[in-house]
Amino acid sequence: MSKDIKDIHSYYSPNGLYNRIIEGLNEIGKDLSRLTLEDLHPVDEFHIRGTTATNELIQLCGFTSDMHILDVGCGVGGSTRRLSHQLGCCVTGVDLSDEYIDAAERLTQLFDMQERVKFQAANALDLPFADNSFDGVWSIQMNMNIEDKLAWLKELHRVVKPKGRVVLYEVCGNKNTPVYFPVPWAQDSSISFLLEPDFFREVITSAGFEIEVWNDKTNLAQQAFAHMKEPVGNPELPELGVHLLVGNDILTKAYNLSRNLNEQRVSLIESVAVKP
Ligand SMILES: C[S@@+](CC[C@H](N)C(=O)[O-])C[C@H]1O[C@@H](n2cnc3c(N)ncnc32)[C@H](O)[C@@H]1O
Repeated sequence: MSKDIKDIHSYYSPNGLYNRIIEGLNEIGKDLSRLTLEDLHPVDEFHIRGTTATNELIQLCGFTSDMHILDVGCGVGGSTRRLSHQLGCCVTGVDLSDEYIDAAERLTQLFDMQERVKFQAANALDLPFADNSFDGVWSIQMNMNIEDKLAWLKELHRVVKPKGRVVLYEVCGNKNTPVYFPVPWAQDSSISFLLEPDFFREVITSAGFEIEVWNDKTNLAQQAFAHMKEPVGNPELPELGVHLLVGNDILTKAYNLSRNLNEQRVSLIESVAVKP
């Protein structure tokens, strides 16, 4: 593992994650034998606008029940499970973090979805799959940690079948710099690599894709974070939340994200790219 990759891995490696999620569920009185996908959403949809965004991507993706989809940078698998649940397709999720993958697998077993939803620890820059393996690819807010975006997109291009669609929902840079840190995907600039949307678009086409959909969702992201205030002291955190994934300074990270959005330092892009 290169130093960069080790640092990213260590940022996303909380100890005992699955047990902490189960404790959180118990504390809020959830019965594990009757759990719904919605019960996990405070912790398992780790991206801007959570389930609302996932549902919009499901509407957009054009995937069907007979397909096998790859979710790259799947985290603990909230949107991986939701995609399969809504469309009936098989989804394989990969993530750099062994701790997230362990939690993803065990949470999926709670829903008895393991036949159709599988997980594997892997680096998005070196995917352990043959060329043309998947009918489609889905990648939600993970490009921020990827310095070599062309290599990442070429990997997606390699593993998706011809005519396959690649759904991306990604934080990009914007016209102003620098970005305020920490943010939800990085403690500091050493593991955060943002391109302005126009450059991101160019890299996607350089990797061999044709862009079919390109939506700037920055306004919706701003609205979603409009309530954020600078945290004072050590505010109480809910039993279940993404602080379990990336630390108790999550409110500072969310506040900085809102400042970055409002001051045009970051943007949010939704895209569908097709392999010709
Ligand atoms: C902000 S989280 C998003 C997780 C998930 N897509 C979601 O929306 O809930 C970013 C994820 O990207 C993963 N990641 C970062 N760099 C990666 C890499 N090189 N290969 C695979 N996963 C990576 C992280 O481990 C983390 O789970």
